[in-house]
Formats: sequence, structure tokens, C-alpha cells
Amino acid sequence: MLLQVLGTAAGGGLPQWNCACPGCAGARAHPERRRRHACLALRAGPDRWYVVNATPDIGEQIEGCPDLLPAPGPAADTRRSPLAGVVLTDAELDHTLGIARLREARDGFDVLATAPVTGAVRDRLGLGAVLGPYTKVRWRELTGTARELDDGSTVTVSAVPVSAKRPRYASGTGPEAPVWSVALRLRDTAGGRTVLYAPALAAWTDAFEAAAREADVLFVDGTFWDDEEPRRSGFGTDTATGMGHLPVTGPGGTADRLARLPGRCLYTHLNNTNPLGDPGAEQHRHLADLGLEVARDGMVIEL
Ligand code: MLT
Ligand code: MN
Ligand code: ZN
Repeated sequence: MLLQVLGTAAGGGLPQWNCACPGCAGARAHPERRRRHACLALRAGPDRWYVVNATPDIGEQIEGCPDLLPAPGPAADTRRSPLAGVVLTDAELDHTLGIARLREARDGFDVLATAPVTGAVRDRLGLGAVLGPYTKVRWRELTGTARELDDGSTVTVSAVPVSAKRPRYASGTGPEAPVWSVALRLRDTAGGRTVLYAPALAAWTDAFEAAAREADVLFVDGTFWDDEEPRRSGFGTDTATGMGHLPVTGPGGTADRLARLPGRCLYTHLNNTNPLGDPGAEQHRHLADLGLEVARDGMVIEL
């Protein structure tokens, strides 16, 4: 299985366009600290790739990843792409706005998402009707049962529930869905290796623990360093947990739990207030002592 990390930031990115916090100012002064919105590219087969979540940065993310660029070909027929589709973990805007940027797709593309997420993105956000005149979006259902990512692909994908928090734009609409956000269990049936991708994790459930135990590589919600970070930094009135993101450390923190797992663990979806955005921050040593990593834009993982 071949994965490429195209971005590792939470909503807003690093820096965020309207933010002067130390993290954003630091990323402007030190371009190597910049992070694009959290996204993973996943190879489904020869010249066929999917992205996990379609971020507002998707155009630049594709341009920065040679495997996702159109191959050379006849001058009379220039529009093509190895990008076959998008798999969604949730319906949040930082994970779905990029779908609209794919409107030029000549042959359309697939979107794999759970039923509540499809309802929010296709119907409530209106991307189904908006994109209809431009391209063909094939909406495919994602459930807890493993299904092939692509026809004939040895990579399968299934959903593990992680959060009931719905996007703000979808509040008060449609039936209550107890699961709005899922972790993705990506499995290479040929090699038998498994990746768990969880950019949002609201609670450490038994189902998540079971999936985490058998994963060879885990990407986990690193939005906030501790529970008070959103309030301390002044941009929110809620705790990290209240916002649907277990913090890395402190009460309810995920680091100690991840340290006990057999797989390789990397934090992703870092908010711009998270001290981990500064490579010189002392917090990195704490994670390194636990054997944990922070994912970086541009990482390639083959397993
Ligand atoms: C989240 O990760 O919690 C969301 O992206 C927050 C938001 O954009 O409202
Ligand atoms: Mn987010
Ligand atoms: Zn900021």
C-alpha cells in the first residue's frame, strides 16, 4: 500500500489567512512550517489514486504530488488525471470544499462517504446540483463493511464511527445521525497491512481501540495539544473535547493510549494554535519519548 501525506493542518491551514496567532505568524516567517489542510493520497492501482478528504487546497496538493499529475499524451486530448476519487471521513468544510474544485474532471470522479455525510455534502451543501452541469460525481456508500476502493483494487476501505458531531452548516437538518465522522480502515488485501486514518476523534471507544490495535500505521487527531487550548488561545469558548477532538495530552489525552499500541502512530490535522506546529517546541520531545510522531506534508509511506 502506498500513501502520500498531502497536508496535515486542521481547518484554516497553517498559516490561516486571517490569523496572527504565534503559530500562523511563525509559519509566515518560516515557510518550512507551513501545513496544508489534512489530506492523504492513496494508491488504488496502477495510475489510480484516491484522496482521503478533498480540502480547499486540493489543486495545490495535486500540483505538489508528481504521482497525481496528468501523464503526457496526445496534444488533441490533454485532459486526464490519475485522481479517481475522494473518500470522506466527515462532511466538515475543511474536508469537502475541494470537491467543488474538481469540477473540471472530464470523466467525473467517485465520492465514497457514509449516508449522513453524502446527505450533507450532496444535498445540504448542494454540491450534487451545483456540480451536475460540470462533471459526473458518482456517490458511493461507505459503511462498516470493507469494500474495494476501486474495481479490482486490492485496497479496501471501511468506516469506524468516531464522532456524532455534525457540521455547523448541517445543524437542524434531516434525521439525527449518531455517526457524523468516521475513521477509515484502509487495508491492502494483498499484503495484509492496515492503516487507520482518524483526523477527528471525539471519544476513544471500544470499536476504535479494536481497529487501532490491529493497524500497522495510524494517523490520529492532533488538532489540539491539550483540552484548554481553544479557550486559552482565545478563538473558542469550548474545550477541545467539546469541539469533537480529543487532545493529545492531559485529561482524556490520546498520547498515552497511542503509545501502548503496536503500530506506528502519527498525529495529523494540527490546528494552527497547536504548539506542535513549531518544530522547535519542547512538546515534540514528549511525543518522541512515547515513540509517537507528527506527520509532515510530503511524507511518503509504503507498507
Ligand atoms: C473540525 O475539525 O472540528 C471542523 O473542521 C471545525 C470546523 O471547521 O467548523
Ligand atoms: Mn477539521
Ligand atoms: Zn493562527
